[in-house]
Amino acid sequence: MTRLISEQIRLIPEGLKNYDLELQAKTGLTLKELAAAAVGVNPDRFDHFDSSVAVIPVTAGLGTIDGFSEAIKAIALHLGFNAFITSSADVSGLVEAYDSNADLIMLADDYKYAVINLNTRRVAENDEATALGYCKALAYMAGGVKGKEVLLIGAGPVGTAAAARLAEAGAKLIVCDLNENREAALAESVRRKSGTLPLRGLTLTEALKRKPLVFDASPGDRIISAAMIDEKTIIAAPGIPLGLDSDALAIAGDRLIHDPLQIGTAVMLFTALAG
Ligand SMILES: NC(=O)c1ccc[n+]([C@@H]2O[C@H](COP(=O)([O-])OP(=O)(O)OC[C@H]3O[C@@H](n4cnc5c(N)ncnc54)[C@H](O)[C@@H]3O)[C@@H](O)[C@H]2O)c1
Repeated sequence: MTRLISEQIRLIPEGLKNYDLELQAKTGLTLKELAAAAVGVNPDRFDHFDSSVAVIPVTAGLGTIDGFSEAIKAIALHLGFNAFITSSADVSGLVEAYDSNADLIMLADDYKYAVINLNTRRVAENDEATALGYCKALAYMAGGVKGKEVLLIGAGPVGTAAAARLAEAGAKLIVCDLNENREAALAESVRRKSGTLPLRGLTLTEALKRKPLVFDASPGDRIISAAMIDEKTIIAAPGIPLGLDSDALAIAGDRLIHDPLQIGTAVMLFTALAG
């Protein structure tokens, strides 16, 4: 997981209305509708709910990231939760969340970002939620993934969760990781679960020549150049930093989904609420 920096997230709160408009233009869905679809529930179910979310800052490890708590609180408010940031961090913040009768708590350290539903004990983690949300977004952008080749870049926790979802949805996977052992392990785990062995051992250039849909779950910086894609390439890219260089970005236009927190956070919250 790449540690976020303030510049990547500080504008999230004020940008959520525009974010929804852009997401709608690309997928036909708002953030709330996409998250509900990813979790597999009717968005109407989330029209009127009265759940409160306590965002607890955590100072362990490298410490809090300026603007992180504010960004996830804003996303929760945008989805219709009553959200607040506890005035204390860490254990004191947890006590405050309990004392305030919060229904859900959100907290993150350098390794894990999770939502816990204090009423149902349901836990939702960001890697899985991000994979689920971006797979759904890719499917909406592409009119489904069944029978289509999807190039999955990055065999870490996000890529591994996405590979399982994409294989379940009937995609034909090509997997690509700089680390050959991880690439092989991911291909094998997909074969065990789905019965089909993904294609592997290709360079990114070779894989992209096949004109697949793209799921970039790697922290590779500008690994995709304009020459590697065309005006039909559809890309779901949770990886941070973005894998496209500026010319590739111009070609991808509205066929690219990439954000630092919104989709993963929304899917986490609805997963924890719906379970
Ligand atoms: N947008 C979001 O909401 C969100 C949420 C969670 C994680 N992320 C990001 O998604 C990415 C994946 O997360 P993770 O926890 O699985 O990361 P990870 O670091 O555990 O795994 C990344 C994998 O990508 C591989 N990789 C690195 N550079 C590569 C390249 N140039 N080509 C091919 N493979 C390459 C690595 O070998 C590794 O196996 C990270 O950048 C992370 O920060 C984003």
